[in-house]
Amino acid sequence: MRAAIITRFGDPSVFEIADLARPIPKPHELLIRIEAAGVNRLDHYIRDGSVNPDLAFPHVLGSDAVGIVEQAGDDTTGFSPGDRVIPMPGYPTDPTDAGADVLATSPSYAIRGLVENGSYAEYMTVPARWTLKAPEGISPVDLATLPMALTTAVRAVKVVGGVTTGDTVLIQAGASGTGSFMVQVAKTLGARVAATVRSPAKRDFVKSLGADFVVGMEDGALDAVRDWSGGGVDVAIDNLGGPSLARSLDTTRPLGLTVLMGNVLGLEATLPVRSVFFPQKRIAGTLMGGVADLEWGLEQVRAGTIRPTLDRTYELDNATSAHERLAAGDAVGNIVFEVS
Ligand SMILES: NC(=O)c1ccc[n+]([C@@H]2O[C@H](COP(=O)([O-])OP(=O)(O)OC[C@H]3O[C@@H](n4cnc5c(N)ncnc54)[C@H](OP(=O)(O)O)[C@@H]3O)[C@@H](O)[C@H]2O)c1
Repeated sequence: MRAAIITRFGDPSVFEIADLARPIPKPHELLIRIEAAGVNRLDHYIRDGSVNPDLAFPHVLGSDAVGIVEQAGDDTTGFSPGDRVIPMPGYPTDPTDAGADVLATSPSYAIRGLVENGSYAEYMTVPARWTLKAPEGISPVDLATLPMALTTAVRAVKVVGGVTTGDTVLIQAGASGTGSFMVQVAKTLGARVAATVRSPAKRDFVKSLGADFVVGMEDGALDAVRDWSGGGVDVAIDNLGGPSLARSLDTTRPLGLTVLMGNVLGLEATLPVRSVFFPQKRIAGTLMGGVADLEWGLEQVRAGTIRPTLDRTYELDNATSAHERLAAGDAVGNIVFEVS
């Protein structure tokens, strides 16, 4: 099978096209023919060597896949060849961890493509336990924008953020892969939503997703969000990290909550200690959600309240161009490989 592989860490030019053996499903697994594979910022961090320095090469990146069941392994139930499916982008590899309250805290939890080969290929095997039937009437490339970004957004905004009707919410990088869904999840929950973007073109996109108030990322821009919310937002969702964390905290009201889930701007942050504990503000970390989070998100997509945010598609041969666009932060929404 054709796959976009990396044989070393490096910049986006490290991709090569290779002919790999088609994987064989073990008991409890499905072999899927991949139609479309989503591209996430995590793939960029894995490719550049900053997440898993022990990666075994050659490696196939990719957490997100939409595909057709080609073969169901022994002991699988509920799936037939021809079904269109969406595997969870992360799951516990040890079946005894399957009941964990918060799936991503289980000891064997692994994001696909981080250790095992992922979805930048014509085929992959996936555990049937962690595979969902795809909603009908939505194209594979649109569906491929959803798994990691939507699952993470639902968990960050709805579950960890606890956002509810009438809340004011700040979404950092509202045009990003994750941000574009966080805006929509917060609106679906009945919140008033402010978002940040770096360019005017992205401002229009974020408005089209339902954001009520969109500002730039320049110094002082968040003062306007604090005013707009009447003294500070209830919840800020920060996927940028680094210096953005202090800015998000500063934009929340007393007792407000900042949910931290990314590190685009850096892995270290300096916080003004008293301006966190005097106003009794809270910070919570979050990692990708579980099956219930993706199912809730897919329900909204079926109902039309949340829409897929396809930026553009690439062929696997153009993996370098796709990752250059991702690395630059130029995408408006989510990049997807159209595989077959
Ligand atoms: N905790 C979790 O489970 C989880 C899950 C998924 C992702 N994440 C993390 O969340 C973060 C965002 O992921 P994503 O997939 O949404 O990323 P993405 O689609 O690549 O978007 C990154 C955004 O960062 C903004 N940005 C600001 N300064 C930038 C700069 N100097 N260079 C590049 N971009 C810049 C851009 O905003 P503009 O659009 O305004 O230009 C861009 O949209 C990443 O750190 C990722 O690892 C965490």
